[in-house]
Amino acid sequence: MISEKEIKERIGKLPIPGVDRTIDGLNLIRDVRINNGKADITIASTGLHDMIRVWIKGALSNTVMHCEGITDAEVNFIDIKPADINKINKIIVVMSGKGGVGKSLVAGLSAIALRRQGFEVGILDADITGPSIPKMFNVTQNPTGTDSGIFPVFSKTGIEIMSANLLLADESTPIMWRGPMIASIINQFWETVVWGRLDYLIIDLPPGTADAPMTVLQNLPVAGIIIVFGPQDLTAMVVRKAVNMAKHMNKPILGAVENMSYLYVPEIDRKIEIFGKSKARTTAKSFGVPLLAQIPIDPSLVRLCDKGEIENYKSEILVKYGKRLKLVVTKAQPVPSESIPPREHA
Ligand SMILES: Nc1ncnc2c1ncn2[C@@H]1O[C@H](COP(=O)(O)OP(=O)(O)O)[C@@H](O)[C@H]1O
Ligand SMILES: [Mg+2]
Repeated sequence: MISEKEIKERIGKLPIPGVDRTIDGLNLIRDVRINNGKADITIASTGLHDMIRVWIKGALSNTVMHCEGITDAEVNFIDIKPADINKINKIIVVMSGKGGVGKSLVAGLSAIALRRQGFEVGILDADITGPSIPKMFNVTQNPTGTDSGIFPVFSKTGIEIMSANLLLADESTPIMWRGPMIASIINQFWETVVWGRLDYLIIDLPPGTADAPMTVLQNLPVAGIIIVFGPQDLTAMVVRKAVNMAKHMNKPILGAVENMSYLYVPEIDRKIEIFGKSKARTTAKSFGVPLLAQIPIDPSLVRLCDKGEIENYKSEILVKYGKRLKLVVTKAQPVPSESIPPREHA
């Protein structure tokens, strides 16, 4: 006779059409009970259209009826809030006091580096007025869903992405919103998006310390911050601002990344420090923050970003960054939860 736990495991593996995740990946199973050979299954139908519900009902009944000792099955749906389904282990915020330093690039590379190590990863693009994540990953589809919840869009390698740009009919439409509207959409991305089970949700912030960063750091259970800076003299000042904001809001800084550190010229096998000698190591040290990477200016990276193929980026630096990032995010405090233990990884 099959156990309730085994049924959960079996039905959890079924993929949901049109959403690219399994039933368990979205954490939709609410209850499984067996009584006198009858399996009663309750599934959260948050964000699922009628057609998909019908499909799930059929697929689940069929799977369960093939289980040993089961002679009858009933599948019921309940509509619950995405916030009650989402099991996000850790939220990692990428920020900087400055614009154009490569926050979005570092957010993208961080997601890719963690994904390549087998984690379930999402990116919440909180740069509402200047979103650049969808283009980098070439995601253009409008998110699907219902009044009860919407699903993020999936990148080629299975990274969940939600961005204001995906909600527009035309990606070149400017979003001209003031602070409260921006705060409201960020809160909605948190409350109405069905992220499901994620090991890491990376948040890409706009520059500065104003509306979006405040909303994210105040309202979301952030586990840690990654600070991005450039090699120019502004570095120390920018890091200090971000460090101060993080301290003020009681959020740990996991590490710093220096971007555009140097240009490597393969023909002469030399690193050229265009912006002068890097002070990254001393700056990071003086703030007691580990330096996680020094990313060079890389023309191939620009090309891949422009083509929406950032997931094809391969470099030794990214591999090293990924290992260091994994170390610091593993140590970060998880989102408080009474819930299911985090998924296991090799
Ligand atoms: N290391 C790098 N090598 C080459 N181009 C880069 C690098 N970092 C960033 N860029 C380019 O610089 C621009 C700004 O980067 P972005 O990540 O959007 O900055 P931010 O999010 O901080 O405003 C983008 O066009 C990006 O492709
Ligand atoms: Mg950006």
